[in-house]
Amino acid sequence: MNIAVIGTGYVGLVTAAGLAEFGHKVVGTDKDFEKISKVSQGIVPIYEPGLDELIMSNLKKGNLVFSTDLDKTIAEADIIFVCVGTPQRDDGSADMSQIEEVSRQIARNLNRYKLVVEKSTVPVKTSFWIKRTISLHKKTDQEFDVASNPEFLREGSAVSDFLNPDRIIVGVETQRARDILCGIYAKFRERLLVTNIDTAELIKHASNSFLAMKISYINLISNICEKTDANVEQVAEGMGLDPRIGGRFLKAGIGYGGSCFPKDIKALARIGEELGVDMSLLKEADRINAERVRIFVDKIKQALWILKDKQIAVLGLAFKPETDDIREAPSIRVIRSLLQEGARLRLCDPQASDNMKQLYPEEPDRLRYCASPYDAAEKANAMVILTEWDDFAKLDLKRIKEAMANPIIVDGRNVFSPEAVKKLGFEYYSIGRK
Ligand code: UDX
Repeated sequence: MNIAVIGTGYVGLVTAAGLAEFGHKVVGTDKDFEKISKVSQGIVPIYEPGLDELIMSNLKKGNLVFSTDLDKTIAEADIIFVCVGTPQRDDGSADMSQIEEVSRQIARNLNRYKLVVEKSTVPVKTSFWIKRTISLHKKTDQEFDVASNPEFLREGSAVSDFLNPDRIIVGVETQRARDILCGIYAKFRERLLVTNIDTAELIKHASNSFLAMKISYINLISNICEKTDANVEQVAEGMGLDPRIGGRFLKAGIGYGGSCFPKDIKALARIGEELGVDMSLLKEADRINAERVRIFVDKIKQALWILKDKQIAVLGLAFKPETDDIREAPSIRVIRSLLQEGARLRLCDPQASDNMKQLYPEEPDRLRYCASPYDAAEKANAMVILTEWDDFAKLDLKRIKEAMANPIIVDGRNVFSPEAVKKLGFEYYSIGRK
């Protein structure tokens, strides 16, 4: 069967390359000419470990091609994975205009039976609208099905998540769609959960909102730890030993960011409210997350008192390690607050500096991007940690201390051991522990 993947963002690229790796014939398509021309030559526009190799090897094998000819790609496809963006609108709901546009394009090219699979994160009931749009615009009486197969890819490990998934959710309403999708994922039979479409759509939003809530919960607990002698890492460890709770996603810090959690928790709250369900639980979790940056900037003030004209080394810009992505990264708001207070910043990140430069270009004396943490630490009055990159945990702290004007670290991700840094003579502030 011929597979088309529409949209070549994070989700689309990994899906296209992953399905090709399973041995299917895949055409990836996007309306962005430049992106397609680059990726056709194996130049991947995003940093995602293992993705370059996966794309390159499948381009060579001939399992994967890229095209900007959307009409032709749809016409030739039996299965169409929709991986276009569903960005957040001002009211928190998801902007579904790209999905609608793709549905109309599919309708125009419905020359034989096709299975349309929603892969992007979409609100429950989206399949109803896709079906309705295709039915309204199709020019033939060819049949089609819509199915939901949500992605659960974590940035930084998206390739291994795709090739070795914990679970594959398949939401279908016909036997034909079920057979096709289960066939595509035949090698993962024991990890497949088949549901109806509304359920599959909701599983994605419900999972991400739950994880976001878990993070806000431990962040709330960390606030209590800071007012007592409790240590949030040990609290999390103790909680996590209960298999009903589990130890993952209990890392306190400056809050979750990225393209999924902030958007999905707001979207689910919105969907629930539209359906007349009280969604205050999720709204509160989201509010707790928004507070993290203010709490963190207060910590910096606690260390430096007045921020005006203070030089601060900012280590970590990406919303999490192993990615160059800064979408909804807490670093954006931390930088904004520090600049508003008149601080001078020296920023450093192993991958995300170029992206941050688009938002915050260099400014003489006010904002500089540095190639290494040691360079960033030069004459700094304090160093703040915003992303827990491995490289930062391995820093030569003696060298850092020599470079700094004042040996003060404000660590938003608990990268260092308080005993070790204090022994070296640093004043050290971290999250939920002394
Ligand atoms: C997430 C989901 O994990 C994935 O299943 C979904 O498909 C897309 O959204 P991703 O956004 O790539 O993936 O990042 P993830 O690793 O889940 O981290 C999200 C955010 O939560 C990051 O900002 C991270 O720093 C933060 N986080 C995570 C914490 O603050 N504490 C934790 O314990 C875990």
